[in-house]
Amino acid sequence: MGSSHKKFSFKRKQVVLLLLFLIVGSLVFVEFFTGIRWQKESEDALYKDATRSTQERVDDLLSRMTTDEKIGQMALVEQNSILLRSDIARFGLGALLSGGGGGPDENTQEGWLTMVNDFQERAKSSRLGIPLLYGVDAVHGHSNVFGATIFPHQIGLGASADADLVRRIAVITAEEMITTGTNWNFSPTADVVQDIRWGRTYETFGADTKLVEDLTTAYVEGLHSLSIVGTAKHYLGSGAMEWGTSTNPGYQIDQGVITIDEAVLRSTHLPPFARAIDAGVGSIMVSHASWNDVELTTSHMWLTDILKGELSFQGFVVSDWYSVFDIPGDKYDALVTAVNAGVDMVMLPYEYRLFATHMRRAVDEGDISMDRLNDAVQRILRIKFEAGLFDNQTISDADIRTFGSIEHKEVAREAVRKSLVLLKDAQQILPISKETPRILVAGDSADNLGRQAGGWTIEWQGIDGNWIPGTTILQGIEDAVSSETNVEYRQAGDFPLGTELADVGIVIVGETPYAEGVGDNEHPELSAEDLEVIDRVRAISKTIIVILVSGRPLDVSPYVNDWDALVTVWLPGSEGGGVADVLFGDYPFTGKLPLEWPL
Ligand code: BGC
Ligand code: BGC
Repeated sequence: MGSSHKKFSFKRKQVVLLLLFLIVGSLVFVEFFTGIRWQKESEDALYKDATRSTQERVDDLLSRMTTDEKIGQMALVEQNSILLRSDIARFGLGALLSGGGGGPDENTQEGWLTMVNDFQERAKSSRLGIPLLYGVDAVHGHSNVFGATIFPHQIGLGASADADLVRRIAVITAEEMITTGTNWNFSPTADVVQDIRWGRTYETFGADTKLVEDLTTAYVEGLHSLSIVGTAKHYLGSGAMEWGTSTNPGYQIDQGVITIDEAVLRSTHLPPFARAIDAGVGSIMVSHASWNDVELTTSHMWLTDILKGELSFQGFVVSDWYSVFDIPGDKYDALVTAVNAGVDMVMLPYEYRLFATHMRRAVDEGDISMDRLNDAVQRILRIKFEAGLFDNQTISDADIRTFGSIEHKEVAREAVRKSLVLLKDAQQILPISKETPRILVAGDSADNLGRQAGGWTIEWQGIDGNWIPGTTILQGIEDAVSSETNVEYRQAGDFPLGTELADVGIVIVGETPYAEGVGDNEHPELSAEDLEVIDRVRAISKTIIVILVSGRPLDVSPYVNDWDALVTVWLPGSEGGGVADVLFGDYPFTGKLPLEWPL
C-alpha cells in the first residue's frame, strides 16, 4: 500500500512539474516571440486620455518607457524586412514604411488596409500600446497603390503655380492614404532644383524658391488638415548636388556633393523648409547628400543648431534610406554620430536588430546621452499624439469609397490642364478645332499610362506601358473631337501614304519612367527614333504639333524650328484627358515654366 502511494505522489509531482513547465514555457514563448505583454499598461493611464494636452500625454508616456522601448521608437523599418512580425511589439518599433513598390502581395486598397492594420494591431499589443507611424511615398497621389488617383508629379504642379490646387491635391492624397491605414507621407519635396540633369527634377516644384515655398506650404497644410503627417525633404540643398559627385556607383548626381556656400544654401534652399516648419510640418527628411566633406546626416550644425535651434522645428528629423549605415566607417560610430547630430528617427530600413543593440550600447556607455534619447522620442511621440494615432480612428465605408473616386480624378484632370505649358505656337494653330476632319497621332507616349505617370508609380522606377487604370493622352484626344473627325493612330507614325496631307499631326514623345539617381542624365533629349517619328508625321501633315511627356526640359532646340507647336505636359499621371481639354480649347493654356527651358 505504502509503496503504491509513493508511486502515485511521484507521478503527481511529475505532472505538476510538467504543467508548471508548460505554463512558464508558454508565457515565455508568448512574451518573447509574439511580443504580447501580460503586464499591459492600464487603460486609465494618463497618456491614453484624449482630453489631456499633448504635452501632458507625451511627458506621461515618456516617464513610463524603458530605455529599450525608447530606442524602438526611433527605428523606421521597411515592412518586407521585418524578420518576425512579432518583432514589431518585441522591439517596440516606432515606424514602418513601404518603399517604392513595397506594398502587400495583393496590391489593392483593401490589401493595404489589411496589411497595415495587422502591423498596427501588433504594435498596440505591446506593453504601452504605442501605435506605429506607417510611411509611404505618396508623392503624386497614393501612387504605390493600384487604382489610386495619380496626379501630375510636382514639377507639373509647379507649372500650375496654383497653391489652392496643390492644397486640394494634398487633401485628396490624404483621403486615399486614410483608406489604407497609412498615416505618414514622405512628401512634399521642398528641394529647389538647379540642374535638370538630376533624375529627381520632376519630384520638385521647380527652380524658384518662392514658388517652392508657397506650394510646399500648401501641400503640408492639406495633408495636416486630415492629420496625415507630412515630410519636407530632402534637407538641405539637394537641388544643388553636382554632376559626377555621387557616392553611389550607379548614379551621377543623386547622393552627391553640394559645394555652394552657406549664404546661398540659406537664401535659395532653406526658405521652403522654414515655411514648412511654420506650417507645422511633422517631419523633415535629411538628404543623402554631403555638403563639401560633411554628410548632411552627420551635420549637427544643419540638423540641430539651425533646424531645431534657429528655426524652432518641433517635429522629428528622419534620415533617408540607409543613409545612416552608409556613413563611411563603423556602423556603431555612424549611428552615434547621426543621432548626436540630430537624427531622431532612423530609416534603417533593414537592420533593426543591429540598430537596437548598437543604440543600447551607445546609451549604456554614454556615447548617446539620455537627454538626446528623450528628446528624439518626445518629438516622435508628440507627432503621433497630434496625428491622433492614440485615439480611436475608424474608417467608414464612405471614406473607402473616396479611393480613386470620380471626384478625385476630376481634380487630377484639372491639375493636368493647369500644368500644360505652351512652349511654341508661332502661327497660333492652337487650339485645334474639334471639327478638324483628319488628325494623325503618333509617338511612344501617346498611348502609355506608365510614361504619363513616370517613376514612383506602382514600382519605385515606375512601369512602362498600360498597367494602371486611367486615360491616355490619345484616348483624351479621341474623346474630345467631333463625331465627324477621323483620328488615326500609329505609334511609329508609319501611316499608309495617301495623296492628301492630314490636317493636323500630333506626335507625343518623351522620357521612359525613372526615379532617383537612375534618372541622372547628362543630356536629356529625344531619341533618334522619336525624331524619326516626328519627321514621318510632319511629312504627311499640314501642321505638326509635338507634345513632350517628360520629367524635365529636353533639349529640342536643334529641331524646334521645324515644328509648328510645342507643348510640355510634364508627367501628367492617370488623367490624360486633361491634355485634350486644353489642346482643343475647352480651357486656355495657363501653365508657366517652373524652371528654365532653353529653346
Ligand atoms: C528617397 C526618399 C524616399 C525614401 C523612401 C529614399 O531613397 O530618397 O525620397 O522617401 O527613399 O522610399
Ligand atoms: C525602394 C525605394 C528607395 C530606394 C532607395 C528602393 O528599393 O523601393 O523606396 O527609395 O530603394 O535606393
